[in-house]
Amino acid sequence: MKRMLEPELMEEEEQGLVYAQADFSGPNTLFLDLFAENFPHFSGKGTVLDLGCGPADILIRFARKYPGCTCVGIDGAEAMLAPGHLAVEQEQLGHRITLHCQCLPCAALSSVQKNQENQKAGQEGFQVILSNSLLHHLHTPAILWQTIQENIAPEGLILVMDLFRPTSPEEARHIVKTYAADEPAILQKDFYNSLLAAFDLDEVRTQLTQAGLALHCEKVSDRHFAVWGGNQCLTIY
Ligand SMILES: C[S@@+](CC[C@H](N)C(=O)[O-])C[C@H]1O[C@@H](n2cnc3c(N)ncnc32)[C@H](O)[C@@H]1O
Repeated sequence: MKRMLEPELMEEEEQGLVYAQADFSGPNTLFLDLFAENFPHFSGKGTVLDLGCGPADILIRFARKYPGCTCVGIDGAEAMLAPGHLAVEQEQLGHRITLHCQCLPCAALSSVQKNQENQKAGQEGFQVILSNSLLHHLHTPAILWQTIQENIAPEGLILVMDLFRPTSPEEARHIVKTYAADEPAILQKDFYNSLLAAFDLDEVRTQLTQAGLALHCEKVSDRHFAVWGGNQCLTIY
């Protein structure tokens, strides 16, 4: 099945509200577990960047699990960030998590980080870069890998997770029915469109090769893949 693009940004207010209320505890727990499994020696300190953070559920979970870090989320859609701002406030994590409306590609990420504690300590780049379910939105996927290369610290850690594209529309419908049958129609439609817009693993591996990134890329569930590694996996050709 050929990839079918969907709009990059999720700009409708209802989209943001419905997405924030949906139950993503399964994939978001998987994301945190993958980080812990693959980076058991993470110091728990430094500044963490989440690209396409949406309502910030992953950043909130990350900040709770690693109380020594400071987190920055960026997303191009105010509609998705609005519930994130509320959740950060409710969790009383406003001193550790900041969310910014910025669209990739963007040149100003380092200025986002300037306010953070570790920047005061003279460290360059983000110690951790995370991204979940952004890649399939991007019409030019190389932008994600380039943004990571430009903003990761010398010893930084990278974890990207996303859906992979099913082999047919029927399979996509089956996945939506299996995992989102009880969710509102707008979420089911977005989920279906996301599956059709997603990449398959070969395409992701080609993107990594073209970007000069020697990161691991594997299936991690029946509908997700993950890409991970340390900055030492960033090879320059
Ligand atoms: C499916 S949501 C994932 C949100 C969050 N990462 C999560 O796991 O719940 C994808 C997010 O990427 C954002 N996005 C898409 N293209 C973007 C771009 N070019 N720059 C910044 N954000 C973008 C959308 O607005 C949306 O909030």
